[in-house]
Amino acid sequence: MYLRETLWRSRERLESSIRIENLQESNIEDLIYVCSSKRLTDPVHQQGIKLKKQWLHEMFGTYGSCAKIAYYKDKPVAQILYYPEEAVKTKAFQRKDVLVISCTYNPFTNAQKLGIGTKLLKSVIHDAQQKKTCLGNRQCKFILAKAFNTGEALPLSEFYRKKGFISTPRNDALYLPVTSSYEEEPLIGKYEPLPEDLGKAVVFYGPICQFSFPFANKIADLVKEVAPNIAIKLVNEWENPQESIRRKNWWLIVNAKPIHAFFMATEQFKQEVKEAVYGKT
Ligand SMILES: CC(C)(COP(=O)(O)OP(=O)(O)OC[C@H]1O[C@@H](n2cnc3c(N)ncnc32)[C@H](O)[C@@H]1OP(=O)(O)O)[C@@H](O)C(=O)NCCC(=O)NCCS
Repeated sequence: MYLRETLWRSRERLESSIRIENLQESNIEDLIYVCSSKRLTDPVHQQGIKLKKQWLHEMFGTYGSCAKIAYYKDKPVAQILYYPEEAVKTKAFQRKDVLVISCTYNPFTNAQKLGIGTKLLKSVIHDAQQKKTCLGNRQCKFILAKAFNTGEALPLSEFYRKKGFISTPRNDALYLPVTSSYEEEPLIGKYEPLPEDLGKAVVFYGPICQFSFPFANKIADLVKEVAPNIAIKLVNEWENPQESIRRKNWWLIVNAKPIHAFFMATEQFKQEVKEAVYGKT
């Protein structure tokens, strides 16, 4: 009896130390802090933050809250970011009434495994069931959660699967039906070499994640290491969506060839860039 009461009280204490807020103009800094607390003074990262803030203000003005922030003992510790698929300018085909979760993130070890990520996700699912999301109070057919693995904490695919999400046929995202079942999007086809891409590197970045701009700069540096004389064009895909659509949303084109290797696998990446510029040796 004593043990059960102690457990119940500690559960109550935990519950009262966690709160979830919808994104508003007043807590945008908290959202930024969750993802960037370790990089707030890095000048390139700061530019990524600036882009993200502009995007958040734009999205908030158009669609209302498109993120939630979790506070643990009054400190912002985790976030979930989402938007209507129709808002994504870089997509050639946008599905109507689909809510996309761009990412969920709880980077603070002292706040992990306390149910915070689950609370954020459940809150979004609840809003979707109640037609209270940034879809403009319309029905949500299904929620699509992007799954990528950063090697940190629990991979997103495992997290969403634990919470009832189902893999999509292309395996890059998971979905949860809300009012309808999953609809596959049409294939966008392969990148066809564009004459204007010959002899240059085209690197895309966007404002949705503040790491995108620093990553694009890192990619540009690595390309320059391999091919010092190649012209490098950095493109903001949100401002120039047609540039991205014409290249089938590929994140890096070198000498009119799409690069597949992830830039953090440095040697493999540099080898692929080298072959794209100079051909296979
Ligand atoms: C996924 C994530 C948000 C979960 O956050 P959290 O607050 O710890 O989640 P919860 O406490 O609600 O735990 C959810 C479940 O995952 C389990 N879990 C959490 N972290 C885990 C870990 N490191 N290893 C194994 N299981 C784990 C919990 O036990 C719980 O299981 P249950 O549902 O069976 O009870 C967090 O691990 C994370 O941020 N991962 C990295 C995600 C990422 O890369 N995001 C993009 C950054 S740019």
